[in-house]
Amino acid sequence: MSSFKIFFFAALLTAVFSFSTADFISDVDIAWGDGRGKIHNNGQLLTLSLDKSSGSGFQSKNEYLFGKLDLQIKLVSGNSAGIVTTFKLQSEGSTWDEILFEFLGNSSGDPYTLHTNVYTQGKGYKEQQFNLWFDPSADYHTYSIIWNPQRIILTVDGTPIREFKNSESLGVLFPSSKPMRMYVELWNGEDWATRGGLVKTDWSGAPFTASFMNIKIDGCVHINGGSSCSTTEPSSSWYTQQIDAESHARLEWAQKNYMIYNYCTDAKKFPQGIPPECATSA
Ligand SMILES: *[C@@H]1O[C@H](CO)[C@@H](O)[C@H](O)[C@H]1NC(C)=O
Repeated sequence: MSSFKIFFFAALLTAVFSFSTADFISDVDIAWGDGRGKIHNNGQLLTLSLDKSSGSGFQSKNEYLFGKLDLQIKLVSGNSAGIVTTFKLQSEGSTWDEILFEFLGNSSGDPYTLHTNVYTQGKGYKEQQFNLWFDPSADYHTYSIIWNPQRIILTVDGTPIREFKNSESLGVLFPSSKPMRMYVELWNGEDWATRGGLVKTDWSGAPFTASFMNIKIDGCVHINGGSSCSTTEPSSSWYTQQIDAESHARLEWAQKNYMIYNYCTDAKKFPQGIPPECATSA
């Protein structure tokens, strides 16, 4: 068999397997934390915990070159100052690509900050931050990353909060060549996370636990230097997903009412001028 045929066959197989609903046993590995990350209920529930000596994390078994990830998260409740929960896609190396959801804990009664960013070739500076319209530690909520060749969409319970369009035609870098792995981590960021490090973690509440359910990864699995989608373009809707009029109204609602920081309006950060993608999407 020619190597092309072998690759085609492998791609076909992975295409078949990459669009099924998953569970934590088949889709992820506990990556670090020395027992602080645990899979329960036959893969239906995963918990990460953090104490003074370590946090913990899990990662997808596969790397993806485009995909849609859904994850239900219930964050650490009570006094979560200094505690950071990360849900991201990231490639390897010093000029990495990354799509980031990061939840910055806060003192009891004060809201979590949802921090988002997109890095291409190791460069970020595209932060947007939000408050949420619910208490993310009281119950599970679904956070999704949709990454296709045209755009990145971040959603919360199906409501888009951010769209980052592919603006390569304007000279803006867009993550489109490096396969990324999913990483989910619970860690201590007390040096900076809450009010720039002013509010420290209250270790008397440790161990802190965050819980995760219903992971779903629909992606182009990157395997043997190729992608399962290069021969069989996914028929799944995420691959061509856009923001329709109704979702656009939701996006505007979320940004108008819950966005607390937007790099696109931070003139101090960009003395050379606001980045060009800000004119078309943000
Ligand atoms: C914590 O709560 C305060 C008061 O509501 C708020 O100003 C701040 O942005 C919140 N988030 C963080 C990460 O400090």
